Amino acid sequence: MSPSQFTDKLAGQRVLLVGGTGGVGVSVAQALLEFGATIVLSSSHESKVKDVRAALLQDYPEAKDRISGYPCDLASPDVESNIEQLFNQAGNVDHIVYMAGDRLPMVPLEEVTLENWQKYNQVRTIAAILVIKVGVRHMKKDRHSSIVLTGGSISEKPIAGGWSMLALMGAGLNGLGRQLAYDLAPIRVNIVAPGVIETDLWQRMGEDGKRAFFAEHEGKIPTGKVGQPVDLAEAYLYCLKDTNATGVVVHSNSGTFLV
Ligand SMILES: NC(=O)c1ccc[n+]([C@@H]2O[C@H](COP(=O)([O-])OP(=O)(O)OC[C@H]3O[C@@H](n4cnc5c(N)ncnc54)[C@H](OP(=O)(O)O)[C@@H]3O)[C@@H](O)[C@H]2O)c1
Repeated sequence: MSPSQFTDKLAGQRVLLVGGTGGVGVSVAQALLEFGATIVLSSSHESKVKDVRAALLQDYPEAKDRISGYPCDLASPDVESNIEQLFNQAGNVDHIVYMAGDRLPMVPLEEVTLENWQKYNQVRTIAAILVIKVGVRHMKKDRHSSIVLTGGSISEKPIAGGWSMLALMGAGLNGLGRQLAYDLAPIRVNIVAPGVIETDLWQRMGEDGKRAFFAEHEGKIPTGKVGQPVDLAEAYLYCLKDTNATGVVVHSNSGTFLV
């Protein structure tokens, strides 16, 4: 037995972080670097990829050869060729962590249209399955390889305020993850389902709107605190490290299912 059999589990593993420049992505990137993994960041804005890479290099100078990044716009009509190009640049990987998400589609039922439903699905669901389709060609067929999708607690716990599109996407991602765990075995596929996590995703509510929403939420949830990206990162680490876990949904949600 090695005295670092747990802490070394991710050392030397190559992990592609799709949507790796957002609040959740940066925490997952930091955790992976601390555990000795090599990361490839990707998101649509080249400047964001550059800035996040630079910030990580500053915080983890010893990891300078373990951080790369490439832009890839998943909202584009050229999404499939963009993904092919991303994998040509990224090369082979041990894990793909999919965290890309654009504007929150909080759309009341009466405003749902074919057009906005298709548009809002592209980054969270359509591109997710395309990334996996291309990505498996760049992965070893092994239980040490894995894919992690990002859904949400809304798939199982309804809340007020125009969440039907996200509920359907989240439930769909849970189903997709389980099905692909079956289809792609022995590559493992798991899903992380976050509750409310404090990231820029909520910035579009405006600072006052976000604070009011968080305060109201914190008045109800058992932990009394909106989740932090450093908390949620643990759920992704678990999915990557437990070679016995596949087809599971890992929840990190402040205990929201209890209330
Ligand atoms: N925060 C929460 O409370 C919460 C709760 C449940 C689920 N989630 C899910 O968790 C994931 C990460 O959320 P987050 O809070 O970290 O959000 P975030 O801070 O807004 O980050 C979103 C990430 O997605 C990337 N992205 C957006 N549009 C893209 C596109 N067209 N192509 C490629 N990448 C794109 C962003 O980078 P660019 O702008 O450079 O593209 C960024 O890296 C999302 O799927 C979100 O729906 C979050």
